[in-house]
This record gives sequence, structure tokens and C-alpha cells, in this order.
Amino acid sequence: MKLIKGNFIYSIDKDNIEVKENQYALIKDGKIEGFYSEIPENLENIEITDYKDNIIIPGLIDLHVHAPQYAFRGMGMDMQLLDWLNTYAFKEEGKYRDLEYAKKQYSKFVNDVKNSATTRLSIFATLHKEATIMLMDLLEEAGIKAYVGKVNMDRNAPEFLTEDTEKSKEDTIDWLEETKDRYENIKPILTPRFIPSCTNNLMTEINKINDKYNIPVQSHLSENPSEIEWVAELHPDTNNYAQAYDKYNLFGKENKTIMAHCVHCPDDELDLIKQNNVTIAHCPQSNANLTSGIAPIKKMLGMGIEVGLGSDIAAGSSLSIFRAMSDAVQVSKLREAMTGEANQILTLSEVFYLGTKGGGKFFGNVGSFGKGYEFDAVVLNDESFGDNSNFTLKERLERIIYLSDDRNIVAKYVAGKKII
Ligand code: GUN
Ligand code: FE
Repeated sequence: MKLIKGNFIYSIDKDNIEVKENQYALIKDGKIEGFYSEIPENLENIEITDYKDNIIIPGLIDLHVHAPQYAFRGMGMDMQLLDWLNTYAFKEEGKYRDLEYAKKQYSKFVNDVKNSATTRLSIFATLHKEATIMLMDLLEEAGIKAYVGKVNMDRNAPEFLTEDTEKSKEDTIDWLEETKDRYENIKPILTPRFIPSCTNNLMTEINKINDKYNIPVQSHLSENPSEIEWVAELHPDTNNYAQAYDKYNLFGKENKTIMAHCVHCPDDELDLIKQNNVTIAHCPQSNANLTSGIAPIKKMLGMGIEVGLGSDIAAGSSLSIFRAMSDAVQVSKLREAMTGEANQILTLSEVFYLGTKGGGKFFGNVGSFGKGYEFDAVVLNDESFGDNSNFTLKERLERIIYLSDDRNIVAKYVAGKKII
């Protein structure tokens, strides 16, 4: 058990932020036990860490990121999705066949994640089994918690980044067997890249693997109009993109599922997302960079759909989920300004929720400081912004979201363990 003292700020739900000013949090078995204004009588001899006037918030959650694309982030932002994949993403991912290259690049990615405010992620690796295991090993060593997916793709990519259907299936099973019981922090997630990348036979095989291993699923959905049109041609028996996953039982229900983007979902697709309890990863920076559009997040939240945030490196250029929060606010305002539709604007409370508790739900009791929540936390010193003495703690949180970078991070905990 230990006590941690400071100013705690966390999300209760999308509309409510809780503030515990100058309090002690009691952490037991890596989880929040409760808050106290004074040291409880029976606990006078336990370890106390006093973070003084610093602000302590839940660790941020990145629900959608491509680790092998980190090396070329901030480049090629003049294209839309399908051209960008062919010109940049596939070429870079092909290099992860070379384990030395993978080690160099994945080490940089993991080091930067470790030093960021993010504590949990859901990650796409590449189709390469060995490099994927290497990424999982590096994340485990860093103390980060993550789902990591070996990508499945057996069509519509260059030969150097296309698997044979049978090999894709075998490598996926080998990867699951080899990593079983290997990690404390890292779990596998099935990762059919997106519908245009996977033949019907491969989708059938992934479904069978899922029946046996029963693990979560992640993919992309309704990101770009040309992509959506292509999916409709590939699956003429469907009414929407989501049905192409649902046909193979890879769309929520008993499988926890993350779908990235969801910018252009028709109403029946949103209904299926809600009905099947699929989680949406909103990636505002990526959707601006690739001219994909602006997802109707306010509407999704209103429907009770689960939503979190994703950096979507490298279509998103920044790894920061603080940046994703401010981007989410900004693009929602542009959506209202440009479409004339009312009630599109996301509040600070809503984006703070999306980047913490909303995304955290995918990992269990994560992303908040309610009793029983895993203690994932970031301690932030905001003195570098100037004199804060006249600001409330909520105002200081807003400034942290808009202004902070890794230099403001004083300490970081994952499930009660201090990792920086
Ligand atoms: N759709 C399929 N693959 C990708 C990818 O790597 N990035 C993004 N943004 N969308 C995709
Ligand atoms: Fe993506």
C-alpha cells in the first residue's frame, strides 16, 4: 500500500470532472482504494509520495496507433488514404521483415511512448510475426500496457507486404501460441488491416482463430469515401462497410472490438456499432491530415456508443493524446461551422473523458480514479506556463491539454507501478 499526495483530476462521465484538491490517494494492489484529506490514523507508517501542487490525472489511452509508421510521421500529408498507403505506409512497413531495422525503430517508438502521458495503447504492428513479438517484448520491458496486433493482409498491397492466406493464418496461430503466458502487460489483438486488405477466405480463417482463442479485434471502418466505395464493390451483398466485418463475426458482440475512424458511417452502421457494443477510436489529427473528414462524435456519444481517442500514427503526426483531445475540440467546432448542424461541439469534459475513461473502458476499470480503478496516473508540473495562482484546477487542466508536452511530466504510474 502507498499514499500519493497532490491535486487529482479525473473524469466521472462525459459531462462531469471530479477534482480532489491537495488530497491523499491510497493505492492498494495497484488500485485506487480511496481519497483522504488527512493521513488516515492506521496508515501513518506507509510510504508517502508528495507531489505538492502538481496535477495528477489518469494515464492517457491511445486506442489506435501504427507502431511501424512512427519512423516516417510528419511526412506525406498531401495525399488521401489509399494513395498515402501505397506511397508511404506499405513501403515503410515492408522494412519490418528485417529484425535489426525493426529493433531500431520499435525501440525509438517504445521509448517515446514511455516518456509520454500515455499509459495504455492498442497497437497495429506489421504482418511480420517476429518483429511483432519484438515490439511486444520492448513494450513489456518498458512497463507499458498494450494490446498488440500482428496485422493480417493477403491482397491489394505490394508483393513485399502481402501474405499468402494460409501463411497469414499459420503465422497468426504461431504468434498467439508463442506469446501465450509470455507477458504481464501485453495482450494480443486480432488485426485484419481493413476489408480491402483481406480476402473472404482470410476473414473466414480469422473468425475461426477467434472462435478458438477468444481475443479482441481491431480494424478500420468508414474512414474515406473512396475506401467505402471499394468495400461496397468487394462485398456487394452488404448494405454498409460494418456488415463486411459482421459477416465474419469480427464486429463486436462477444468479441471486444475497436474500429478506427468511423468518419462517414451511415445511420444503420452506427446502429450496428451500438448494438454490437463496438468501441470507436476517434483520430481527429489523422482525419484532417488525410482529408478524411470530421467524425460526428457528439452524435455517437448521444447514442451511447463507446468512444476513445487514437493518435493513428503516422496518418496522425503526433503521438500525444493531449494533442488528440485539443484536435477533437477544434475539428468538432469546424464541423459545426462548416455543416451548419447544431450541437457538434465537444466540451473539455467530453474530450478529457474520451482520452481517459472512454478509451480506458476497453482495458477494464482504467482511465479514472474511482474506487477499484487501476492506478494509471501522470503527474504534471505546469509551472512552465507562467503564474497559475489565479487559475482553478480545471482551468489548469485545460491549459495542460492545450500546452503541455513530455517536459511537463514529473512521474508516471501504470497499474500502481512507477515507470518514470
Ligand atoms: N486503413 C488501412 N490501413 C491504414 C493505415 O495504416 N492507416 C490509416 N489511417 N488507415 C488505414
Ligand atoms: Fe489506422
